[in-house]
Amino acid sequence: MFFLLSCSNKSSLPRPFSSDMLASQEFFINNGSDTLIETLHGSVIRIKEGSFNISGTIKLQIKEAFTAAEILASGLTTESNGRPLRSGGMIYINATAAGEAVELLKPIKVSIPNQYYDSAMQIFKGVETDSSGINWIDPISPDNTEQSNQWRSGKDLFMSKCASCHNIFKNSTGPALKDVELRGPWTDRNNLYSYIHNPPAFIAKNSYSQALKNQYGSMMSSFPDITIRDIDAILDYIKNESNKPENATDALLNLDIPADSVNIFDKTTEMFKRPCKDDTIYQPIPKPKQSFFNVESEIEQPAMSESFGNDTIPQNNPVKASDMESLRGGFTDRLSTNGMYDFEIKTFGWYNVDAFVEGYDGTSNVKLYVQLQMELDISMHVYLFCPDKKLLSVMNEKRGDQYYFNKINDGIPLFMTDRAVVFAFGSKDKKIYYGINEFSVQGEQTISVRVKESSVEEITQALFSKQLDGIDLGIEKKVRKIIKHQCDDPLPADTLQ
Ligand code: HEC
Repeated sequence: MFFLLSCSNKSSLPRPFSSDMLASQEFFINNGSDTLIETLHGSVIRIKEGSFNISGTIKLQIKEAFTAAEILASGLTTESNGRPLRSGGMIYINATAAGEAVELLKPIKVSIPNQYYDSAMQIFKGVETDSSGINWIDPISPDNTEQSNQWRSGKDLFMSKCASCHNIFKNSTGPALKDVELRGPWTDRNNLYSYIHNPPAFIAKNSYSQALKNQYGSMMSSFPDITIRDIDAILDYIKNESNKPENATDALLNLDIPADSVNIFDKTTEMFKRPCKDDTIYQPIPKPKQSFFNVESEIEQPAMSESFGNDTIPQNNPVKASDMESLRGGFTDRLSTNGMYDFEIKTFGWYNVDAFVEGYDGTSNVKLYVQLQMELDISMHVYLFCPDKKLLSVMNEKRGDQYYFNKINDGIPLFMTDRAVVFAFGSKDKKIYYGINEFSVQGEQTISVRVKESSVEEITQALFSKQLDGIDLGIEKKVRKIIKHQCDDPLPADTLQ
């Protein structure tokens, strides 16, 4: 077994692919007062005073596997009793006092941040399995929050009032509304309020809308009575749908959606300088100073004294409970939101926000064979990894000399055309053997993987740099940003169009 889920369970192969790879975030908190913690990935943890059975200072340990690279490096497979899951983030929470385990007397509230809200997501509890992995069980729905209610009511309002003329991803009677707040006058919500309340009045004084009306040949209906709150809910819903990763490819490939409306500018007005067609730029999310990986040299250890008196405010307790609401931020005016999935935990351990893959639009039951090319006869672990969906599955059957993913109905449910990576890993006599290959998911396919010798250090380094044999293991979510530029201008460095 080479998965490591707790420190007490040392395995013979410490790295890679163990949760030991993840940075251990430690917080020293006082059991006598309410505590709010924001983690490296922006999860928020709320602890009531007296939550532990021991008074005084409690050490809280957190690990997070949120990004594709972290999930792969930690070897945390995303399956529930063999059924593949896509993850929205995993978190490990444990507490000790002076090295001893403590008991939880009150539930701890956890908020997991996300770029988008997906109503199919549930909270699963992780349990270690004998067969070198983790099984995610006992799903519960996340708590209803102001945000999730807002998103739901936005969907209902959109369906009843707007869907007859608008689709989010396709032009119909009216334009596709994906990323609508990134274009034209709509970067200011006040314009959207006026426009939706009274299109003729807005169109009369705005050249962007005039051009749009001419292009679509009809004017949109007025909604004089709709409240600002309801418009906000609709716009939040549209924004959330636009952010979902399964739609990211649409945004990249189907540029004519925003471009249609953007290109109108130059014909009608000098007011907006014609932005180049591809004016929506995708930028990687800025990297935090601290590493998410357990690279000793990179991690700044928190400054802490040897012992805390009961009333010392611990150094590494960054936020007071009273500041909590400011941390949550507004749902409407942030690109990334805090606390999209809220839930309570009553025991320590691993928790995972995920959804079953089967049933999603665009998925299919795939027959996937892996053919390893290797001379040595050693047992290999074969993984399937879909970075964009944060899905990590382990092969569970051999058919002849091929490895097979037999998860449900003689196959594995996956998103068609999704980017996927097959990864094989084994060891013998302190040597590491691995192979990797990248492909696009089809109905039935055999992926060939050449296995070669390497070292733990080499693979660990490759995982940190998110590059292995030229294959990008990152593919983290990019932030959308409008940068106005002329078509001839070179694009800013470090952007993806
Ligand atoms: C009867 C059809 C119809 C309905 C219903 C309708 N729209 Fe429209 N909408 C249009 C048309 C046509 C246009 C483009 C011409 C124009 O601006 O009038 C448009 C344009 C828009 C635009 C500008 C899009 C862009 O690309 O810049 C927004 C935003 C918008 N509508 C939002 C809404 C919302 C929100 C609702 C529901 C509350 C809604 N619409 C309901 C027909 C409709």
